[in-house]
Amino acid sequence: MSGYSAPHCGSLRASDEGRDVELYGWVARRRDMGGVIFIDLRDRWGKVQVVFNPAVAPAAHEAASDLRSEFVVRVAGSVRRRPSGSENPRLETGDIEVAASDLEVLSPSEPTPFPLEDSEEPDEKTRLEYRYLDLRRPRMTRMLELRNKVNRIIRDYMEEREFIEVETPILTRSSPSGARDFLVPSRLHPAEFYALPQAPQMLKQLLMVSGVQRYYQIARCFRDENLRADRQPEFTQLDVEMSFCNEEDVFALIEGLFAKLWQETAGVTLAAPFPRLDIKESFLRYGSDKPDLRYELEIADLGDALGNTKADIFRKVLAADGVVRALSVPHGRDMARRELDELVTVAKGAGGQGLAWLPGGPLDKFLSEQEIESIKRLTMAGPDDLVLIAADRRRKAETVMGLIRQEIARRRKLIREGEWKFLWINPTYLFDEDDQGKLTYAHHPFTRPFAEDMSFVEERPYDVRAHAYDIVCNGYELGGGSLRIYDPGMQERVFQLLGMPLDVIRARFGTLLQAFTYGVPPHGGIAPGIDRIVMMLGGTDNIRDVIAFPKTQSMSDLMLGAPSEVDQSQLDELNIKVVPPKKDRS
Ligand code: AMO
Repeated sequence: MSGYSAPHCGSLRASDEGRDVELYGWVARRRDMGGVIFIDLRDRWGKVQVVFNPAVAPAAHEAASDLRSEFVVRVAGSVRRRPSGSENPRLETGDIEVAASDLEVLSPSEPTPFPLEDSEEPDEKTRLEYRYLDLRRPRMTRMLELRNKVNRIIRDYMEEREFIEVETPILTRSSPSGARDFLVPSRLHPAEFYALPQAPQMLKQLLMVSGVQRYYQIARCFRDENLRADRQPEFTQLDVEMSFCNEEDVFALIEGLFAKLWQETAGVTLAAPFPRLDIKESFLRYGSDKPDLRYELEIADLGDALGNTKADIFRKVLAADGVVRALSVPHGRDMARRELDELVTVAKGAGGQGLAWLPGGPLDKFLSEQEIESIKRLTMAGPDDLVLIAADRRRKAETVMGLIRQEIARRRKLIREGEWKFLWINPTYLFDEDDQGKLTYAHHPFTRPFAEDMSFVEERPYDVRAHAYDIVCNGYELGGGSLRIYDPGMQERVFQLLGMPLDVIRARFGTLLQAFTYGVPPHGGIAPGIDRIVMMLGGTDNIRDVIAFPKTQSMSDLMLGAPSEVDQSQLDELNIKVVPPKKDRS
């Protein structure tokens, strides 16, 4: 028998009693009971206890006394029930043990830089440096298995619905998705570059022109953007595109997929269809485009209540087209001054002016009785509650209140853990404002606008709605997509509205525009982020936990040491001259 076909350590059960087995694995723990030696032998499937008895197998016992953690061994023995009272209910193999007759050390191990037990969570830097050891920890093995299962369920589900997986290139041409590109210099075309795909957006649309009709791909995407706990520079999407579809088709497909994923990996039945919320309302009520609905804390607009206010700060903001937004903190009336100050710091950290509060704040004396009553009514504040207020430009006030909402929920433990609050954000807007206050696309420039809104696009571009949607769960954006423009004239118009000169449009999007002149089916799609899905199902809020070999926050691979310098000869071949970096590399 080879070790490959040997039984798994973690799979042995009471029904295997009496069986002679040969086991292969790593020593997880050794206990020398002064006579009998016990080891826990671990493989990918779990752990089993092995007993070395000097009276029964003296040579094996002798060899076992030299075992250390993480030695790789072969053990021969027979499965027996543990003596009554010594079962271990915490171990799946806990009813049995293996009485060893033979032991062979296949490979020794140095002491590992951290214990490979789940009971301890080593420091992440060390884990990432020794990722190959970190992945040996049962928790991480489970994550790899979960991710594999998610991918398998996705493939089965898509194939059942006649989608076909088409691979698209990694060395490609830049396509806008709102982040910086990673570029790859071309040796054969000096001074020219490939871009790694931020998403296969144009290619999947071109596949619709090709008549593929139902496309999917478990696609690797690359974006050079600021990282956060739920972002990696390379990540994986379930990329989907379909012809002749409307929004309902996309929603039904994806709701069915999420329902299956949650059912089969977590045993949770999701209630579909998922509720829908338009983006304007989402920002108004929750201060976010990815609201966490596991707690209430709704934000109210106080514009109507304060129309004639004498309170200067509100009056000025409203007069300048700003907004006043508020939310009531249940039982917050006794909130300590220190906590209030901390919330003000959060608000200022988000670029806000600060926060006002009622009652007990400096504003009480500037607001009329009637105004205070209206504020209470709009925020549904009871006698024990505290009302927090932000006045600012709309965007800012929404961001501030959204953060305060999260902060209050976290501090006051209002989040109903264990709930899965899925929703669609739909419709959304076509355009957004960039950091410089300029018009940019909200999703990507291929998104189909509401036809009826295009009549006022010149006067009120920010009010033009789009056939775009995000799927959100518990405060995470799990996926986004849209119906696409398929009229080349309309596509050109949107590019122009985005301020792209004609030559840029031709150079970057000429292929798409030309393809659309050869019979393009109306089409649309979506791309759920697989890393984030696995994060949610794996119960972690760190995206690195669900990626075998992730990058750090500063985009380094600590295990292999990437990025790295390269040989001068490689640079010469590529016609690249390196300019020594300035001090600040950000
Ligand atoms: P979008 O840019 O919204 O859409 O991305 C879709 C989903 O991909 C995931 N995602 C990420 N996950 C981890 N790290 C990142 N840096 C990262 N960036 C995005 C998120 C997100 O919801 N081509 C369009 C889709 C379409 O229109 O069909 C696109 O890429 O879960």
